[in-house]
Amino acid sequence: MKQTDGVALSAIDEERFGIRVARANLVTAETWPVIMDFCRANQVKMLIARCYTSDIAVTQAMERAGGLLMDTLVVFSRDLVRHKIPDNPNQDIIRLMRPGDEEQIREVAARAFDGYSGHYHADSRLDKAKCDEAYISWAMRSCVSKEIADDVYVAAHGDKIIGFITMQLNTPEEGQATIGGVLPEAQGKGLYRSFLITGMEWLLAKQAATMVVSTQITNIAVQKVWVRLGFEPRYAFYTFHKWFDD
Ligand SMILES: CC(C)(COP(=O)(O)OP(=O)(O)OC[C@H]1O[C@@H](n2cnc3c(N)ncnc32)[C@H](O)[C@@H]1OP(=O)(O)O)[C@@H](O)C(=O)NCCC(=O)NCCS
Repeated sequence: MKQTDGVALSAIDEERFGIRVARANLVTAETWPVIMDFCRANQVKMLIARCYTSDIAVTQAMERAGGLLMDTLVVFSRDLVRHKIPDNPNQDIIRLMRPGDEEQIREVAARAFDGYSGHYHADSRLDKAKCDEAYISWAMRSCVSKEIADDVYVAAHGDKIIGFITMQLNTPEEGQATIGGVLPEAQGKGLYRSFLITGMEWLLAKQAATMVVSTQITNIAVQKVWVRLGFEPRYAFYTFHKWFDD
């Protein structure tokens, strides 16, 4: 994969959407011109670029270049040592995934993320079914690759998996719950809240004192759960898609 100054070609997006895609996960005033040069030099068709919402100069530079705002990601965190972790009412049905769970996790992801409002879905030029597939494939890669997730927890009624969450340690001190979903018929019963409690316990057992979570600002359901569990806002990102049509 070609990479320079915070931008890289994204093989996985190219394979999914059939066009050359680059990603720049944290654009700054210094890197933006380099990123644009990289895209032109590599015949990139679509650039997925993120910047801090506090960086108005870069935000406006991306707008001037024809970037379209696709989503806003909010990042919250929680101190696991200072604030006691609550009891987990669903601990009996939550367990680590086992080999053979993958197909059911795929099914949960497919149903939970059907029509989800992430940056892919917000782009009218991208095929909706392929956008759904992006989240399903992220969940599946989490099951098989330690580079994507260290552990995956599932909630199961007997043999039937009704939800999942993926956990990752980012540094020895900090980790995150990355992607999670609950079957529509099992939603609204506190399962996601329980997954977060499981995630907090997982991190604390690894001596990590901070848990990070992030989502689209429009995902009110998860933010309600986070706030009730003592998570606090930290920072936010804009996601732009810049299409190169000439
Ligand atoms: C988000 C999700 C994981 C929540 O799972 P859940 O088990 O239903 O969550 P909980 O029951 O712990 O709590 C959800 C809370 O949000 C509320 N809620 C659910 N959908 C909502 C919506 N569209 N708008 C506002 N609140 C909503 C629930 O009613 C509940 O609040 P309440 O206690 O006041 O009723 C689940 O809805 C889901 O799979 N969504 C699609 C995928 C997703 O968004 N994943 C998370 C981002 S990676």
